[in-house]
Amino acid sequence: MFELAPSLLSADFTRLKEDIEAVREGGATVLHVDVMDGHFVPNITIGLPVVKSLRKATDMVIDCHLMISEPDRYAVQFVKAGADMVSVHVEADVHLQRTLTAIREEGARAGVAINPGTPVSALEEVLPFADFILLMSVNPGFGGQSFIETSYAKLKKLRSAIEEQGLSTRIEIDGGIDATNVAKVVEAGAEIVVAGSAVYGDGTPTASAREMIEAATVWV
Ligand code: DX5
Ligand code: ZN
Repeated sequence: MFELAPSLLSADFTRLKEDIEAVREGGATVLHVDVMDGHFVPNITIGLPVVKSLRKATDMVIDCHLMISEPDRYAVQFVKAGADMVSVHVEADVHLQRTLTAIREEGARAGVAINPGTPVSALEEVLPFADFILLMSVNPGFGGQSFIETSYAKLKKLRSAIEEQGLSTRIEIDGGIDATNVAKVVEAGAEIVVAGSAVYGDGTPTASAREMIEAATVWV
């Protein structure tokens, strides 16, 4: 099932509640929350207190993308703060299988995020422990970057790897997606699509979310 996950990174932080309502009205079901530590990525964003407040403000699915070093130290805390989905980077976690299991045990869906420069083969052993894979189609750190075109082939490769193991792991894609390429990423295997600037950038989040969902569901 296709789901649109607007990224709050491009929302107005002084009026998050209104910006959340706006995308829900446009048909979005998942809220993508980009957590950056200024170490794993060259940017600092938001953390646990904001997630706690978001949890009180909405019943939409909260999806925390942890772009932080040593994510095993914090992943469970994000679940306790109210996240329904938590992803940690394969490049950042030495004990990835343990972290994924801990996220699941705390009652959330566990995801593995993967950078554009990391091969799909790096996921082979952890696929059975992940509920979803967050495939990055830009290098993480900032909104508004251009989609890396080799991501279509990578999506297909990931889809095959998941099928080969007989799993039903969902694929989420993140970075540089708008109404012009959303159908193509869905066709290549993505099911949950993150979009920041395409949804919030032009000041009409409800209409932009709707437009993206319409463009994507051509394939469903
Ligand atoms: C990038 C973040 C993304 C970002 C996407 O590091 O992980 O979620 O907000 O923004 P757009 O859709 O503008 O590329
Ligand atoms: Zn993200």
